[in-house]
Amino acid sequence: MKILITGACGYQGSLLIPKLLKKNHEIIAIDTQWFGNYLKKHKNLKNIKKNILDINKIDLKDVDTIIHLASIANDPMGDLVQNITWEYSCLGTMKLLNLAIEQNVKKIIYASSSSVYGLKKEKKVTENLSLKPISIYNKAKMITERIILSYSDKIDFTIIRPATVCGVSPRMRFDVSVNMMTYQALKNGKMTVFGGNQTRPNIHMDDLLDLYIFFLKKGKKFNGIFNAGFENLKIIEIAKRVQKIIPSKINIIKNNIDIRDYRVDSSKLLSLGYKPKKNINHAINEILIKYKKNINNVDKKSFSIKWLKQNYKRYFNIT
Ligand SMILES: NC(=O)c1ccc[n+]([C@@H]2O[C@H](COP(=O)([O-])OP(=O)(O)OC[C@H]3O[C@@H](n4cnc5c(N)ncnc54)[C@H](O)[C@@H]3O)[C@@H](O)[C@H]2O)c1
Repeated sequence: MKILITGACGYQGSLLIPKLLKKNHEIIAIDTQWFGNYLKKHKNLKNIKKNILDINKIDLKDVDTIIHLASIANDPMGDLVQNITWEYSCLGTMKLLNLAIEQNVKKIIYASSSSVYGLKKEKKVTENLSLKPISIYNKAKMITERIILSYSDKIDFTIIRPATVCGVSPRMRFDVSVNMMTYQALKNGKMTVFGGNQTRPNIHMDDLLDLYIFFLKKGKKFNGIFNAGFENLKIIEIAKRVQKIIPSKINIIKNNIDIRDYRVDSSKLLSLGYKPKKNINHAINEILIKYKKNINNVDKKSFSIKWLKQNYKRYFNIT
C-alpha cells in the first residue's frame, strides 16, 4: 500500500516508517524536519522536507492512506505561536483533505490527542463526552478533528486520541511525562513533580505504532474517534514507578501546576480486537538501557519545547 505520512521525522514517525517499510509498504514522508531527520534511505521511501501547507497533487499520486502526524506537538509552543498552531493544524489539515479527496485517497488516520478532554471528573472518559480543551494546542486538535469529521462523507477516517506516549525513539522526546521523569532520575537522581495529583493516561510507543498499522484496515467499524490510553496514572504514581526502577528522590512543587486532569477509557478501541502489549515500566526500562551510559550527552533537540523556543523565529520566518 502507498502511504503518505506527515510529521514523518518526529518522535513517532521516525519509528513508524521503518516498521511500515518492513511490511513492504511504499512511503512518502513529509516533515519540516525541525528536529532533524533520522530516517534511513530505503528504496520504498521518498523523504520530502516540506510543510504540509505546501503539499501538492504529485505528493499524493496513487496514495491509498494518509497517516497525519504533523503538528506543533506540545502546549507551551502552542501558546507561544498561537496563529501558527491554528494555521498548521486546521488549515494544513483542510488543504490536505481537499487534495486527498481530489486525488482519490481512500483514508486518513489522524493523531489527535486525549488532552482534548481537558478537565474531567468522570471515571470513564469515553469518546461521546463533551470536550473541554484548555490550551491552544488542545483546542486546535479539537477543531482539526471537526474539520476531518466534516469530510466524512468523502473519505474514510480514523481519529485516534492518544494518551501521552512513552518509550525510546531515534528522534527522542524528553518533554513528555514518563520520559522526562526517567531522564531526571537518571541524570540528577531527583525528579521534580508539579502538583502530582493530576491524573494522565499513558500509552507505550510500540502500542501506538501497532495501532496506526491496525487502522490501515478499512470498513465502517474502523471509522470514527477512538481513545487510546491504557494506564491512567497520577503524576506522582508515575514518579514512584520510575523511583522503583531508578532509585531517586521526588521533589514536589505545589505551584506552577499544569492543571490538565483526565483519564481515558479505551473500551471502544479494545472492542475492535486491538490489544496493547506494553506499559510504562517497559518504557522506563528501555530508556534506562539506552541512556544509562550517555545521559549527559543527550541531543538538545530531544527537549522539544526548549529547542523550538530557541529556533522558532528561524523556522517560522518571524523577524
Ligand atoms: N507524543 C505524545 O505524547 C503525543 C500524544 C498525543 C498526540 N500526539 C500527536 O501525535 C503527533 C506526532 O507527535 P510526536 O510525538 O511524534 O511529535 P514530534 O514533535 O516529534 O513530531 C511532529 C513532527 O511534525 C513536524 N511538523 C510540524 N508541523 C509541520 C508542518 N506544518 N508540516 C510538516 N511537518 C510538520 C515536526 O517537524 C515534527 O517532526 C502530533 O500530532 C502530536 O500532537 C503526541
